[in-house]
Amino acid sequence: RTALNTAIAGLAGAALASTSVSAQAAQTVTVGHTTSDNSHYSVGVDAFKKTLEELSGGEFTVEEHPSGALGGERAMIEGLQIGTIDTVITSTGPLGNFVPETYVLDLPFLFADYDQARCVLDGEIGQDLLDQIGNNNLVGLAWTENGFRHLTNSKRDVKTPEDAAGLKIRTMENQMHMAAFKEMDVHPTPMAFPELFTALQQGTVDGQENPVSVILTSNLWEVQDHMSLTGHVYSPAIMLASPVLWDSLSDEEKGWFKQAAQAGAEATRAEVSRLETAGVKELKEKGLTVIEDIDKSQFQDAVEPSYSVYTDQYGSEMLERIRNSE
Ligand code: PAF
Repeated sequence: RTALNTAIAGLAGAALASTSVSAQAAQTVTVGHTTSDNSHYSVGVDAFKKTLEELSGGEFTVEEHPSGALGGERAMIEGLQIGTIDTVITSTGPLGNFVPETYVLDLPFLFADYDQARCVLDGEIGQDLLDQIGNNNLVGLAWTENGFRHLTNSKRDVKTPEDAAGLKIRTMENQMHMAAFKEMDVHPTPMAFPELFTALQQGTVDGQENPVSVILTSNLWEVQDHMSLTGHVYSPAIMLASPVLWDSLSDEEKGWFKQAAQAGAEATRAEVSRLETAGVKELKEKGLTVIEDIDKSQFQDAVEPSYSVYTDQYGSEMLERIRNSE
């Protein structure tokens, strides 16, 4: 064997070795969510993917599973706990069933506007809640956003709580939301989101409530006629990771995941803000009657007694901390 041959063989071996190292190291990370692949969550997944792939130099690749392909939000959270799903973007709707401390976030008319909600979630209170999530066999990567929820239905224009009384409305599987709707004499019907479109189409329920981005990108306007901009509750979302994935990562890798989740959250929030006006315009063009002139104080007064469902169980300390953050 000549020296040249040895050198060539060495170089080829090194190239092969480096190919197989990067092939071995490229780990696919699944991200599940229930909204469509053109939703605000999907915009967040794009930013998460780009950031994680860049930071890790290709060590991780990200695979998006939108539209409830991995199940509804509650089922996906269970999947995280047993390690069948790596990461999930979910509203806090079903999260209180796993981490009761987060129920406070789902109280109606708690946050005055997007600025206050984002500020609370990005501050000390948000961090405390992420810590609580970490105590419940889940990992909270970053707070992201679903948005202020508005009411839609197929029966009539709703301007006041009295107009809503008697309607059968799908809610999330969240005690705080259900209690609030009961105070308005609405019949709340908890249901996982992937079942909602068919339930509206078949008239099993008359209506539902969700942020503009969801109503638009999940095509709920096809099966609903009336929308009221009630903004009755801010709906936070969160990017969660499985503890099984988390425990397999080094500290440096954990840092990449957190940074990427934060980039995803920022992109999602920007999309929610954009759609808050552009989306309403589009929904009108698609034929929804949109009631914009709502006296929110009437809805707020109607649902106020439902706060006791929270305070009777969990006290009012966290509630006061959030209120004092205004
Ligand atoms: O209505 C819900 O269940 C949630 O708002 C949704 C659409 C799944 C997004 O988190």
